[in-house]
Amino acid sequence: MSHLPTLSATQIPSPRLLLRTAVHDSDREGLIELATDPEVRAHLGGPRPRGEVEQHVDAVLAAGATSRPGSYIIADTTTNQVIGTLTLARRSRDNPGHVTEDGEELELGYVLRRAAWGSGLAFEAATAALRAAAGELPDQPVVLVTQSANTRSLRLAARLGFRPVSTFEEFGAEQTLCTAPLSLFRL
Ligand SMILES: CC(C)(COP(=O)(O)OP(=O)(O)OC[C@H]1O[C@@H](n2cnc3c(N)ncnc32)[C@H](O)[C@@H]1OP(=O)(O)O)[C@@H](O)C(=O)NCCC(=O)NCCS
Repeated sequence: MSHLPTLSATQIPSPRLLLRTAVHDSDREGLIELATDPEVRAHLGGPRPRGEVEQHVDAVLAAGATSRPGSYIIADTTTNQVIGTLTLARRSRDNPGHVTEDGEELELGYVLRRAAWGSGLAFEAATAALRAAAGELPDQPVVLVTQSANTRSLRLAARLGFRPVSTFEEFGAEQTLCTAPLSLFRL
């Protein structure tokens, strides 16, 4: 795991959402659904086996918090229900797709439950996380990698202000590498 810093906040509020590192028992079904729903996983390697997912989710619940720095549960402010997850972590040098020579750029990732698509919630969550990061970290490139066939994700990337810079093969599919300067999100 990279030693370079990422977001340190444990909670990031936005008008409709709360991004939180704390994981609650009531998050269990939502987290399992995110990893096993074929539509959600269509461009992420397909659904994962339920048994494996349950074991992993139960370990996260036992720990009480997301396992990786920069990983957040996206929860509905009103109901506290899980809407999805968001990560702003470092892209390992071992993976292809970089915009700097040293790699380990901040990388944005997002996954929303199918019922939450089409309401601007992923945009809202990503904007809140990137603004928080821009408020605490020096300017640097942020990357986002998504399957080229994942048009929803590419549309979201463009709306956020990321521009596509190259394509490459990973996990047996063409990926598009997008980037934006963190300072774009400074308030
Ligand atoms: C990628 C993903 C997060 C995009 O979700 P999304 O809901 O389409 O993204 P946004 O939050 O930007 O919402 C945009 C949609 O909400 C609509 N919308 C409704 N109310 C809105 C509002 N108040 N503000 C903004 N958009 C709004 C927009 O018109 C747009 O709809 P459209 O796609 O039908 O044109 C989602 O499809 C997903 O979780 N996919 C599976 C996981 C995945 O592939 N992740 C990518 C790996 S990096």
